[in-house]
Amino acid sequence: TSPLRIGIAGLGTVGAGVIRLLETNRELIAARAGRAIEVTAVSARERGKDRGVDISGFAWEDDMTALGSRQDVDVVVELVGGSDGPALTLSRAAFAGGKGLVTANKAMVAHHGLELAKAAEAGGLALKFEAAVAGGIPVVKGLREGTSANQLTKVYGILNGTCNYILTTMEATGADFAETLVEAQALGYAEADPTFDIEGVDAAHKLAILATIGFGVELDFANVVTTGIVAVRAADIAQADALGFVIRLIAEADVQQDADGPKLLQRVRPCLVAKNHPLAPVDGPTNAVVAEGNFSGRLLFQGPGAGDGPTASAVVADIIDIARGDVGAPFSMPIAQLASLGPAQPGGR
Ligand code: HSE
Repeated sequence: TSPLRIGIAGLGTVGAGVIRLLETNRELIAARAGRAIEVTAVSARERGKDRGVDISGFAWEDDMTALGSRQDVDVVVELVGGSDGPALTLSRAAFAGGKGLVTANKAMVAHHGLELAKAAEAGGLALKFEAAVAGGIPVVKGLREGTSANQLTKVYGILNGTCNYILTTMEATGADFAETLVEAQALGYAEADPTFDIEGVDAAHKLAILATIGFGVELDFANVVTTGIVAVRAADIAQADALGFVIRLIAEADVQQDADGPKLLQRVRPCLVAKNHPLAPVDGPTNAVVAEGNFSGRLLFQGPGAGDGPTASAVVADIIDIARGDVGAPFSMPIAQLASLGPAQPGGR
């Protein structure tokens, strides 16, 4: 069989990680994919930058959108980020060019996932975004495939590593929020604009994606009720501790019955978590997702939620799926079958 040919847009830490992973595990990846996976073309802002990987063997595109129409690319890997702009233009171009798309872009999937999934579906093309949610944890696959026979009752968890690092570090050191944020940025966990992390927007992007997969509903990022961690003080954490709790930024989705039928409730906010709850010991930039299914029982997915290795691991797993011929529904069912529930009224419970 012929190799699967990849074009990568964005050569930051994740892009370089993908190239390194494809090289390091080349043979086992080919064995599992049933064919070789070759990077043929790349594009990024700066060509000459030292990334610790050799890109001289790949074709270079100044205009990343061109990856969507190259004859030698079967799958576009979008690692640029941003909900709109070049990432979205490239993603549309990839489907217009008959290519599959793998993306780590939670903001783009949260805002434009339905449009992109429709384009993928119409063209019989793959759209994969495991890396968009919880880095290395296969929670998209876990909910899409692993619990696909279940009615889920609840999905919740810790979806932002930066916030979890900040909260658990404040807990351990007694330091205040501002100085701990600076550390998280220095360690490279935070987004380019850390307000997305600390105001809960990044977790809300990821929650909207998980809700769509877990509950079979249309994406509804606009109705995620979101509060970040900027108002959490060292004194709040000490007080919670005295009462037997820790504070975690919890993202949570469930379907509940309102007066006029089932509605989707999606919330991101700092919560008191009892010290004996499985989410309490989740430390540092780790993510964890709890899914409760009516036959599976309570499942816990936990692991590194950010960083080049874990994120590259999820990206390449998606590439392997495509190499095997998987063009299954991006959100667990065909787009036309996703329910449009509308948001639950806050306080309606
Ligand atoms: N800024 C994100 C986080 C990176 O802290 O979780 C992974 O999406």
